[in-house]
Amino acid sequence: MSISWKHPLDRSKRLPEPVRVSEDETEDETEGRTSPRTPRWFARPAARLWRCAPPPAEVRNFHATLADYAPTPLTELPSLAGELGVRRVFVRDESCRLRLPAFKALAASWAVHRALAERAASGADPGPVTLVTATDGNHGRAVARMAHRLGQRARVFVPHGVHPRAVAAITAEGAEVTEVPGSYDDAVRRAAEKAASPDAVLIQDTAWAGYERIPGWIVEGYSTLCAEIDEQLASRGVAEGPGLVCVPVGVGSLAQAVITHYRSRPSGHAPALLSVEPETAACVLESLTRGAPVSVTTSHTTMAGLNCGTPSSTAWPRLRDGLDAAVAVTDAAADHAAARLAALGVSSGPCGAATLAGLRTALTGRDAGDRRTSLGLDATSVVVLLNTEGTSANPHLATAP
Ligand SMILES: Cc1ncc(COP(=O)(O)O)c(C=O)c1O
Repeated sequence: MSISWKHPLDRSKRLPEPVRVSEDETEDETEGRTSPRTPRWFARPAARLWRCAPPPAEVRNFHATLADYAPTPLTELPSLAGELGVRRVFVRDESCRLRLPAFKALAASWAVHRALAERAASGADPGPVTLVTATDGNHGRAVARMAHRLGQRARVFVPHGVHPRAVAAITAEGAEVTEVPGSYDDAVRRAAEKAASPDAVLIQDTAWAGYERIPGWIVEGYSTLCAEIDEQLASRGVAEGPGLVCVPVGVGSLAQAVITHYRSRPSGHAPALLSVEPETAACVLESLTRGAPVSVTTSHTTMAGLNCGTPSSTAWPRLRDGLDAAVAVTDAAADHAAARLAALGVSSGPCGAATLAGLRTALTGRDAGDRRTSLGLDATSVVVLLNTEGTSANPHLATAP
């Protein structure tokens, strides 16, 4: 099938025909068991050789000036390492980041800071602005928090399926919230339209042709998370860095930051980087498989923050060149992983726990040996899971919407 990619904002041409891989290829993992079916998987081990320029150093310094800033915990889980046949497994715990229950405030704080500074320098009307965004939950809440702190207004568009408690949390930050009866891509389109007025600024965490500068700052904002991990690993005797980092992926901006960090380090070995998406919103896996960015039709998933149908335009080239592997997981697998992490004392919502589900999918079941080889893993490897949200960020597991 020939696919031409257009961001959902591009209405000049027909949106690409939604692409789906055969449902027969999907993995059904519950209770830690894998079905005999082959998981949806893509691998390109040559990505470990690819290199790029590093992120700007000043981002970390900026975060250090924020009153609530502190590195988040990196928790070692030896029982998982034993189960999965690697030396050490660490989980990055983003359940309390800048006093919010997900990692997103790192990016929102930096991008809002840069956008407002640029606006002031341009001589624009110094009156209050409205920070506009679309969100599956976490990003919108972080933007609303920053707006409130800086005396600005926030207008947030949420797609169908975001849990009412997540919507209420955004409203509680003082934002005006509009629920869009459609997908995340539809909500992004609405936010961009709304932000067209002179007293508004779109703070979106995905890019498309013509809107790439602010998403670039979003990606830079995540660099602090990677720098913290390297320091924490070094203090635990892993000076060479991890052998594998598992990243939950929606539009791919976080993965773009992780790739930029690990493919630009002057020393240490290049880890394998694995993206993990919901089965029902695997736009990056689908794009990698086809060798070109595509949109997919999405449907409900408990992994609300990953429920995105189109890769970010700036993330795509990095994902294509610097990502070793991509896997898709079911809600059941992510929910089971969240329960397992909870039993080990780590608070995780389904998006964060998806990384454990993805790791388990990669390292167990049919053809696991081949996948382990693609990732360059053996019994001496160190794995880092990015658990990007705590339970309160995404209440889907606790109650149905
Ligand atoms: C908790 C969580 N993890 C991961 C992601 C994925 O980030 P990205 O959309 O940059 O791929 C999101 C996005 O909203 C999220 O909320």
